[in-house]
Amino acid sequence: MCQYHQRFGKIFKMNLGTFQSVQIGDPTLLESIFRKESNYPRRLDIKPWKMYRDYRNEAYGLLTLEGQEWQSMRKTMQRNLMDPKEVSKLDLKMNEVMQDFIIHINNLCHKKGSVDDIYFELNKWSYETICFIFYNRRCGLLQEAYGEDDLKFIKSVKEIMKYLGPLMVTPVNLHRKCNTAQWQKHTQAWDDIFMTVKRFINERLENISNSEKGDILSKISEQSQLSKKELSAIFTELQIGGIETTANALMWAIFNLSQNSNVQEKLYEEIQNTLLPGEHPTAQSLKKMPYLKSCLKESLRLTPTVPFTSRTMEEDTSVGGFLLPQGTVVMINFHAITWNEDFYTDAKKFKPERWLQDKHTLNPFASTPFGIGRRMCVGRRLAELQLQLALCWLVQNFKIYAMDKKAIKAIISTVMLPDRSMPVTFIKR
Ligand code: HEM
Repeated sequence: MCQYHQRFGKIFKMNLGTFQSVQIGDPTLLESIFRKESNYPRRLDIKPWKMYRDYRNEAYGLLTLEGQEWQSMRKTMQRNLMDPKEVSKLDLKMNEVMQDFIIHINNLCHKKGSVDDIYFELNKWSYETICFIFYNRRCGLLQEAYGEDDLKFIKSVKEIMKYLGPLMVTPVNLHRKCNTAQWQKHTQAWDDIFMTVKRFINERLENISNSEKGDILSKISEQSQLSKKELSAIFTELQIGGIETTANALMWAIFNLSQNSNVQEKLYEEIQNTLLPGEHPTAQSLKKMPYLKSCLKESLRLTPTVPFTSRTMEEDTSVGGFLLPQGTVVMINFHAITWNEDFYTDAKKFKPERWLQDKHTLNPFASTPFGIGRRMCVGRRLAELQLQLALCWLVQNFKIYAMDKKAIKAIISTVMLPDRSMPVTFIKR
């Protein structure tokens, strides 16, 4: 999309198979859309996911709901997921998993000298953390003592991401009618995902009365009248949202640090100046680590995990001097903005300092990795805390090295993917 924006400018029309879209790659246009948003902003319909839910008689979650139903569900989740005070209480649980992750990575590097597939190991970490926070459940993924369903869940999330693009740009109703291989694989992956989430919810709700209730599921089921069907839909979509993205963002942050040893050492210095030797970071102590936060912001700018989002115009709307008729799908290409020299000097370089030195001159709409407005990522605060703690633990414990300096190409898919395994290793400090 970056090349298209270079060729056609900051706004252009594009046919995407089953629908026409307007592509934007400019912070001023993004701001204009944000200023005009309604109470129920809409993204592009995720038809393949909705079709699966209708086919299997499942409910919709936050990613797929619209209108007042979306707003009411969002309010319930927002209270628990976006309140900074509530989220900061989760640092203990996140740290418990992180402690295991450090041992796990140390063991892998000790045995083999490096980690074969860091993305997959990070998926285990994000899954373990999310399940602990959502259901008070430890799965044993970092002790290699896990059930097949847990691994299947991680693989199924990758499957649905893989088939999402192709099923969006071709008529999904035909896929379903002809029972194509893509529809079958997509359906099987969703079946596995829903089955696991339902099992977790049932097991947790059965034990709810006689155990500690710090988990999100206990809170939501106490605060609301949601049925089990609705809970399954919400937690399925939250769990998907939480696993792939956080692992992906940490993978890119590790990669960016491995390529920039000077940044890594500066970050280590900040950690050492803030924490005592062996002391674990907390939500509180992270407040004293501005450089760490800048490293993550910069990593999400340079390598945005979710490279785009969308909005469907609810009425005729004027954007940048163009009249977009009601129903127009606008694709917002984050990476086309964050890689543009007009908004960032040395845009292709990893420079966390820019967030400290230039913060008053940077356009706030030029890097929005969690989206914008009322429909912004509901897991944002959770993800930020989890990523900040993880980065702190990793740099406190290891030097992260690049195994080679060959370029890695970013592939723009549902999430931003590297074109090969990340060549990184961890050496104990
Ligand atoms: C680095 C991590 C993450 C990134 C970069 C990310 C990014 C995004 C983006 C760009 C959107 C679309 C927002 C918009 O259209 O304006 C989104 C939506 C969403 N994300 Fe995340 N996300 C992350 C982590 C998480 C986590 C941890 C969860 C769950 C706990 C989550 C759950 C969701 C859900 C449910 C939505 C839909 C919200 C709605 O429509 O109301 N995400 N995310």
